Amino acid sequence: MRTVTQDNITEVFAGYLGEETDPRLREVLTALAQHIHDFVRETRLTHDEWRKGLEFLEWAGRITTPERNEFVLLSDVLGLSSLVDMTHSVSGATSSSVLGPFHVSNPPPLDIGGDMKRDFEGEVVLVEGIVRDMGGNPVAGAEIDIWQTAPNGMYSSQDPDQDITSFHALMTTDADGRYAFTTVRPVSYTVPNDGPVGQILDAAGRHPWRPSHLHFIVKAKGCRDLVTEVFAADDPYLDEDTVFGVREDLVMTYQPQPAGSFPEGFALSGKVTDAWARVGFDFTLAPA
Ligand code: BEZ
Ligand code: FE
Repeated sequence: MRTVTQDNITEVFAGYLGEETDPRLREVLTALAQHIHDFVRETRLTHDEWRKGLEFLEWAGRITTPERNEFVLLSDVLGLSSLVDMTHSVSGATSSSVLGPFHVSNPPPLDIGGDMKRDFEGEVVLVEGIVRDMGGNPVAGAEIDIWQTAPNGMYSSQDPDQDITSFHALMTTDADGRYAFTTVRPVSYTVPNDGPVGQILDAAGRHPWRPSHLHFIVKAKGCRDLVTEVFAADDPYLDEDTVFGVREDLVMTYQPQPAGSFPEGFALSGKVTDAWARVGFDFTLAPA
């Protein structure tokens, strides 16, 4: 097509794709062009706005490092990451939720009943549950990768005062599919907001807070990997997570327990003299 117009540019774009283009790539690129072109036509995007958008992406590129990916954060605050998650959710399985940037590779193994609290201040919380498949059968040998913030709201990779392994653990379920560990309550925290994404949140009158949560990746043979988070029912940000991660089935309740009632069979048994809290959370894995 020699004469490209506002009305035919999307069609012209599709016509430029080679015959051999992978069909799925063709579908995604054509839809992407359609939506981007419609976006410009609908908003009548100005040159200034277009330039600002490109400068935003350039800044995001400059600030991105192996430890901090501003593009992933952008995807998160736009709801894109969560929408991709929800598009592929399996009814009856535990919902997935955003991975976030604070997972570490090679988390330290922790026996069932082990402790992640170490010497940190705070009430002891016992988290326990069962991993099951969609048929309701317990999954033995499932690997559960767990991470959370310290009481100061920072993940180990953000905090020079924490050992990189602090509040990270890898646990394997027993023959009954059970996992259990002790920790302290994670806290609400802000996503990194000193870069371009923070500036957009600010300009849009949005706060950068996430409700407190525990992160989990659960993997088992024959099952789909589950990347998820579990949120506290009493968190003030539960209904306004800035990265749209909360789902109805991912909400847990801390049940207060009286002093002197901490059970046997845990690394902290015999050492917990104050009141403590219990959380029960079971996972249901979709088939691979
Ligand atoms: C997190 O939960 O760790 C997280 C998720 C998205 C953006 C920033 C942090
Ligand atoms: Fe997090």
